[in-house]
Order: sequence, then structure tokens, then C-alpha cells
Amino acid sequence: MKQSICCLLPLFLLVLPSFSQDIRWEAVAPGVWKGTTGTPEAYDLWSAAEPSPNMASLEKLGEAEFPLSKGEIIGRQQDGNTYLKFPLQREEQLFGFGLNFKTIHQRGRILRLHVDHYGGEDNGRTHAPVPFYVSDQGYGIFINSARYLDVYAGSASRLDSKDPAEARDRNTDPNWTASPYSDGVEVLVPAEGVTFYIFAGPSPLEAIQRFNLLNGGGPMPPRWGLGFTQRVHRLYNQEEVIREVDEFEQKGFPLDFVGLEPGWQSKSYPNTFAWDPVRFPDPELLTETLNEKGVNLNLWMNPYVSPEATFYDRLKPFYGSHTVWAGAVPDLSMERAQEIYWANFKRDHVEIGVGGYKIDEVDGYDRWLWPDVATFPSGLAAEQMRQTYGLLVQKQSTELFRQQNRRTWGLVRASNGGGVSFPYVLYNDYYNHRDFITALINSGYSGILWTPEARASDTAEEWLRRFQTVVFSPMAMINAWASGTKPWTYPEVEAEVKAMALLRMQMIPYWYSSFARYHFEGIPPFRGMNLEPGFNEVDGSSGSLEGPTDLESNPYAEAVRKEMKDQYMAGPSLLVAPLFSGETSRKVILPRGNWYDFYDGSFAGNGEIIDVQARLDRIPVFVKEGSIIPLMEPRLHAPAKGEVVDLEIRHYGREPATYRYYDDDGYSFDFEKGAYTWREFKVEKDAQGQWKGLLTPAAEGTPTTIGAVRWKFMTSEE
Ligand code: GAL
Repeated sequence: MKQSICCLLPLFLLVLPSFSQDIRWEAVAPGVWKGTTGTPEAYDLWSAAEPSPNMASLEKLGEAEFPLSKGEIIGRQQDGNTYLKFPLQREEQLFGFGLNFKTIHQRGRILRLHVDHYGGEDNGRTHAPVPFYVSDQGYGIFINSARYLDVYAGSASRLDSKDPAEARDRNTDPNWTASPYSDGVEVLVPAEGVTFYIFAGPSPLEAIQRFNLLNGGGPMPPRWGLGFTQRVHRLYNQEEVIREVDEFEQKGFPLDFVGLEPGWQSKSYPNTFAWDPVRFPDPELLTETLNEKGVNLNLWMNPYVSPEATFYDRLKPFYGSHTVWAGAVPDLSMERAQEIYWANFKRDHVEIGVGGYKIDEVDGYDRWLWPDVATFPSGLAAEQMRQTYGLLVQKQSTELFRQQNRRTWGLVRASNGGGVSFPYVLYNDYYNHRDFITALINSGYSGILWTPEARASDTAEEWLRRFQTVVFSPMAMINAWASGTKPWTYPEVEAEVKAMALLRMQMIPYWYSSFARYHFEGIPPFRGMNLEPGFNEVDGSSGSLEGPTDLESNPYAEAVRKEMKDQYMAGPSLLVAPLFSGETSRKVILPRGNWYDFYDGSFAGNGEIIDVQARLDRIPVFVKEGSIIPLMEPRLHAPAKGEVVDLEIRHYGREPATYRYYDDDGYSFDFEKGAYTWREFKVEKDAQGQWKGLLTPAAEGTPTTIGAVRWKFMTSEE
């Protein structure tokens, strides 16, 4: 008898998994569970990114209940693929799935998550198709696969659903719908197994924090990375670059790093990665001259190697089967290939003082990348390489700077899940201003960063409006590689553009501490409105579509129903509501709680939709009740390593406030060894009822860069 059970068992295992759920669960961190189904592939997103989880911060977030019913999660193998299903409640809304440009709400969408240049449609083909989504019910799900994933995010209805869509009569029933209700997110993974992770909240923001922290937390930029950057025309030579840097200084426009486009190389593209001897006869002198002027240099590259590169032959055993723009594609998943490849960057760029890279064209377009039939010497599939190449180049190039103990801040055109901690900001060739803001909002749901770069504009007004939004983004950049524009190109708005650029500089202390929150706590510096407390807490409808829908009895109705695609949170306290070319006014939804005008401290509203008249020189920004915003003097360059600066500490509102200010040398990786401090600015009333400000001391032996402190109480008492 015993024997026969034994013999039956393998048969039983063979048959049953395709009909039942088969998930091995493991708790991996507080509030984070790993599910495994089938036999996962050896190479996944984390094999490429190798993130180091921030367990200490995850511990601080604390334990939480498993947020779903395990019995309703399905993972099984069918037809050589893995099928996953995660349950959805009736009114649930989903966010994430990477860098989408047109949609914030993802429920009902059908996506193929596929690294690509964004093609104008949110269909999963994008620069960072991160397989992570977060629910307004306060949990998140990440699928750790380096394959193209088919996602039905609540679009399909199963016959065996426990809450099935109702069959209605189209002829007579006004409630008939072409999109019947679906009770789950279903995913097809083209592999015989996969691991996935469930992140508890309880709030959606906490689920995102856990996801970000498990991926190592956000990157800490150098302070100079938060200043202003100009990418110059692609064929500029050394002298022209220096002249342009001097022009910024003379005209009083801030500048922290200059980006050289393909023309710095002797041939490109494909690339030699060698300085062009005519345009750049003395690159050492260039970096030295710029560094003395307080300006860093960033180099454009795409990774594809020209037959004329000095190391072309040495890398030969490590090329993929196909070329990109006739350049060979190094298999950067292989250690030996990495060593040969990056040694050149280290010697010719990083060691002479280059501050970072713009890593282009690691996303697509299909025509310009290796095809899916390509093969690579490591044996990885072309598809796996495509999904992870952006991660590989970010990780490996960051190491070059880490070896020198200085931070970098660069640009990349592709990323994916696992890349949270890399010091790179995404960009692309698309140029729709509104969609750029939607992408900025979406970046916060997926552990990525995005810049709505300014290139050129049809009108001065549009130029200023675009410029205003780059100032409130992770990288304040003009990309003039083709246009040759400068911040002062449109004389009608030159003064306004300059004021915005200087405001960006004043705000560096605020931006820096916001990034520290991303690094240490996993809170995205730029976020969608539904993550803001008070936005969804609608009386009687809490984030659902129920409750009164007329705006009079429920001022939140619009907020709850509406996809917030054009206003966002920046750092802990600021609500940014950009204006677009041609607009003279806009509506802004202020969450519950008092909000104040950033520029003059006046009361703006509380839990209501306000009409804002468009002043050309201002991007509407509102500050939460009881907030402190640390600013420094307007200046042309970010503080140097460890430089002490005076601060203006602004208090907004009528409530006392506490602000946690992060400090370190702003330049090196010493913070990873504990060389940092969090200090508190506090505002409270004294015995006479007057506001007074306090600053807690730095912990002993930790760096401090705070000089004199001037307090400014922005909101008058009346
Ligand atoms: C594009 C990139 C642009 C610019 C250009 C230079 O692919 O998106 O920003 O760098 O290449 O050729």
C-alpha cells in the first residue's frame, strides 16, 4: 500500500498543479511576503539589479497583516507558462506598472510589460515597465521576472469567479456595459515558474515604501545633482563648452552640470568612447576648468561599440549576435565583459573628473535595438537582455563613481524593477508637456525617477511653462542637443526663467532632504495625489466611487473620481499644479487640511477645488498646514562638498511644525558608513504667543553644513 502511494505521488504532482494553486510562501521582511510558483528562472530583474534591501528601515515600518486572502491568489503552470491571479475588490483602483504617460488609474488596462521607447500609447511598452502595482486598498505586488509580461489588470472575467460579472440584456438594460466587471489581476509569465512579492500597507504609500526599501531605497544624489543642468549642442567643441559655462555665470544663470552629447566622441554612433581629438583636444583641461568653476561634466553615450573603439577586439568573445547602429552589443551580464568594457570609462572619463553619464538608447525603439531573435554569449535570451540592459548599465556605471567615493547623478532611457536605488533619472524623445507631468506622477508609484526636460518651444510662454515644471522635478534640465537653446533664448521671459532657475537653487536643501526620505524611508520625492492623506478620505466614500457625487455636498467627489494627472506632491509638504501653454487658469484640488500659497503664505483653501488664475511668472504651488520649508540664498552653484550654508527656514500656516532636516557632506558615500545626521527644525509659540524657531543640535561627530539660520513666518495671524 505504502509503495503504491509512493508511485502515485509523482503522477499526482504532474497533473494537479495545472488545476490548483501551488504557491510556496515565505516572509522576507516586515510586511513583505515572497510567493514562489513552479520553477522560477535563474535570471530575473534582481539578478541584474542586485538590490540590497534596507532591512533596518523595513523593521521601522513594522510588521503588518498579510493584506489579501492567500486562498484567492493563484499561481500555476499552464502550457509552458506561469499563470498568476491576484484578487480585486469591486471599487478597488490600481496604480503603477511603470512609466505610463497618459493614465494614472491602471484598473481595466491590458498591458504587455516590455522595455521600449514610449510610442504614444500606454500599452506596457515603455522605458521602465516595472512589474509592480499598488492598490488604493493599501498593498502592492511585484513580479520578479525579466520576461515580457502580459497583464490583464482587472479586464477579464472568469467563469469561476466568486463575484462574477452579471449577464445583462443589451437590448433593454441601460446598465449593460461593454466592459463587464472583472475580479482579478491576471498575469501570464512566459516561464515555468516565477517569484512575486506582496507588500502590506496599511496605506498605499506604506506599500510603496516597503517596495522601495526592499529594493535598497532611493538614491542619494550629490547636492550638485539637484542644481541646474544644460545639455549643449551635439557638435560643440571644448572652447564652446567653456564659453557657454562662462556665459551662464556672466548672465547670472545657475549651472551645476553640463552635458555633452554624441559629438564629444571621435565617432558616434556606434561609439569609440574616445574623445574627439579636434573638438576636444584636452579633456583633462576641460574637466579641470569646469570643476574649478563649480561645474560638473556629464557625457552622453549609448553602449554600442564601434569597430574603431580601441577595445573592440578584446571584447569580441562577449558580443551579442546582432548590432545596434552597426555597433557591437557587449553582453554586460558577464563579468569579464564588464571588466574590459568599463575599464575604458574609468580611465578616460571618471578618473579625469567626469561626473556622470547619460546612457541613451537602452530601451528601443525595436528597429534600433537587437531583435528578439538575437543571442548572447551568456545564454540569456534577447528578451531578458532587453528587460534588464538598463539595469545593468546603471549598476555598473554607478560602481565607477563609488570606487572614487563620489556620487553621480545621471540620465538613462531604460530601467525596470530592482533599479530603485540607482542614481539615474529617466527621459525620452517624446515631448508632450502634459504627458510629461503624468509620467512624473507615475514615476512615484514604481520606484523610478523622471525628468520632463525642456528642449525648445513654439512660444516664450510655452518655454516658461515647461521650464517651471523641470524646476519641480528630479532633474532641472534643458536638453539643447539639437536645438541649441539656452535658458535665455526667449527674451520675453528671460527674467522669469532666471527667477525659476534661482528658486530651484534656493530649494536645494528641501530637495535634498526629500531625497533622503526616499533613500532612508522609501518615500518617493514626487508622488501622485492619492498618496496624500486627506485626498481620498472622503466622508462616506473613502476612496471608493460611492457617496454624493455632486461637488456641493461632497467637494471630494471630483477628486475621488478623477485621475489626477496634472497635479502632484513634491517632497513632504508641497503640492505642485503646473500650467500648460495657453492656459490662463486651472482648477486645483486641495486635500483636506489647510493649504497655503507657497509664494506669499496666504491661505488658499481646505478640502476644496479652487480656481487658480495663471500668473505667467509662477507655477502654482501650495504648502500643507504646519510645514517648514528650508531654503538657501539664491546662488549659481550647489554647495561644494561639506560647504556650510546659511538657511532661510520658512514656516507656513497656523500650527506648530517640526521638520526633519537631513545633512551630510553632499558628495561622498560616507553617509553609507554613518556620516550623516537628521536635525529638527521646530516652530512653536512662545509665552507671548509669538512664533519662535528652534534647531536641534547635530549628533556628536556627524557632519553639519548648516550656517546661520533666519526664520521667516510666512502666514500672518489674521
Ligand atoms: C537621443 C536622445 C536625445 C539626444 C540624442 C543625441 O536618442 O534621446 O536626448 O541625446 O539621442 O543623438
